[in-house]
Amino acid sequence: MKIALLFILYYNIMNLNPFTYKSLEILKEQFDELNLDIPVSQELGVLQKNIITQNFTIPNRLSIQPMEGFDSHEDGSPGELTLRRYKRYADGGAGLIWVEATSIAENCRSNPHQLMLTEQNLEKFRDFVSIIRARSNQTLKSLGFEDKCVLIIQLNHSGRYSKLGLEKFPIRAYHNANLDSAIMVSEKDGKVISDHELKELEDLWVEKAILAKKAGFDGVDIKACHGYLISELLSARNRKNSIYGGSSLKNRTRFFLNIIKKLNLKVSANNDFIITCRLGIYNGIPYPNGFGVKEAENQAFPAETDIKEPIQLIEQLHKLRIRLINISAGNPHYTPHLTRPYDTPLKGAQLPEEHPLYSVNRIIKLTSLIKSQIPENMIIIGSGYSYLRQFAGYIAAGLVQNKMVDICGFGRMAIANPNFPRQLFQNGIIDKNKVCITCSQCSGFMRQGKNTGCAIRDPQYKK
Ligand SMILES: Cc1cc2nc3c(=O)[nH]c(=O)nc-3n(C[C@H](O)[C@H](O)[C@H](O)COP(=O)(O)O)c2cc1C
Repeated sequence: MKIALLFILYYNIMNLNPFTYKSLEILKEQFDELNLDIPVSQELGVLQKNIITQNFTIPNRLSIQPMEGFDSHEDGSPGELTLRRYKRYADGGAGLIWVEATSIAENCRSNPHQLMLTEQNLEKFRDFVSIIRARSNQTLKSLGFEDKCVLIIQLNHSGRYSKLGLEKFPIRAYHNANLDSAIMVSEKDGKVISDHELKELEDLWVEKAILAKKAGFDGVDIKACHGYLISELLSARNRKNSIYGGSSLKNRTRFFLNIIKKLNLKVSANNDFIITCRLGIYNGIPYPNGFGVKEAENQAFPAETDIKEPIQLIEQLHKLRIRLINISAGNPHYTPHLTRPYDTPLKGAQLPEEHPLYSVNRIIKLTSLIKSQIPENMIIIGSGYSYLRQFAGYIAAGLVQNKMVDICGFGRMAIANPNFPRQLFQNGIIDKNKVCITCSQCSGFMRQGKNTGCAIRDPQYKK
């Protein structure tokens, strides 16, 4: 009791915003006080309804978001801790498991232990998929779901956040004054990828997607968020004399859409493989280096939102038969609170000026705005709910009920408490003693290049 009081006192003095809401009513009062119109519902049945995309039926409306664990073997295949993490997710009961950022090549890994899919380790990935699928289907059946789990893998090029071994090896889409200092390269140093290299990478991405299908995944995510290569190209207005950059959105989306077009022809002609993306719709970086931001000079930080371009991109994706998109925002290396709202920042980092519930509200509202402006048969997955702790399921239900999103994806909650779907479906509430407390330690492990997990809830990582 004394410790709890000291904790609250410390947070008040430091002007931090610890999550101290003891009941849903008190949380709703806080929403009202902050003028946030976030829907809440305790009718959890909506989360147990299936939803169809292409030839697949996703059993329920909860998804595990992709989260790098940096625990692969050197060859990029899933390691023991990787398997452990996904077994835990599979035992939890989410209908969709979105496997973490997996590198398309050695020189664009974000860590020497980031997953990487190759011809040589394909069999190991195949074993991994079959174990997770069997386990997840068993769980879903035991929870009363008739449909089978859906497994998607995220393929990524880490772009300016690439490493060779432990050394930074930035491969940039363009010189970005807002971001270059963070990776400690000047305008002159570091590599800006050429048009020729990008052209070759389009085909590499397709090769890797074919491997993903062979490994048994149901779909592949062409990662376009969080400041990595594709998302950086989306804002590459300052990439000069290039067919992949400049002021026109057509040029800035060319690389991404070329990959999707090629995949449609080579991997998903019969709708039997999901082509999808995790799309960053707003990164908060002021124009001209931002995406989803107001096109005006001298914007304050984070820049005002303007989702005209993200909507145009999603319309293009829809024309290319994409029917599932996982929405995210922010750049975890630059604007982490836009991606994953938190109470405690990374060691040495500042707390954002805004209340974390504003950050939660921003991504919820942007996602629902997108949803309201695109064709109805595009399934939208939302992100950024873990801050809401044990009440997150009620906000998820409110959002799905109000058609503001179709599926709610959980990141840090799943690391801390992989059984959260089971708890919701069976007990009607997520166990408050097991939730993520948004302490940023999992992100801290990533920054230090360590195996990633929950230092608070999981004995494996407490040490
Ligand atoms: C440790 C860690 C690793 C992550 N790795 C990825 C990743 O591989 N790919 C990705 O798209 N997002 C990644 N994310 C972002 C999450 O998928 C998610 O969008 C974010 O944590 C916000 O959701 P939450 O509030 O439920 O945690 C990662 C987040 C964390 C904390």
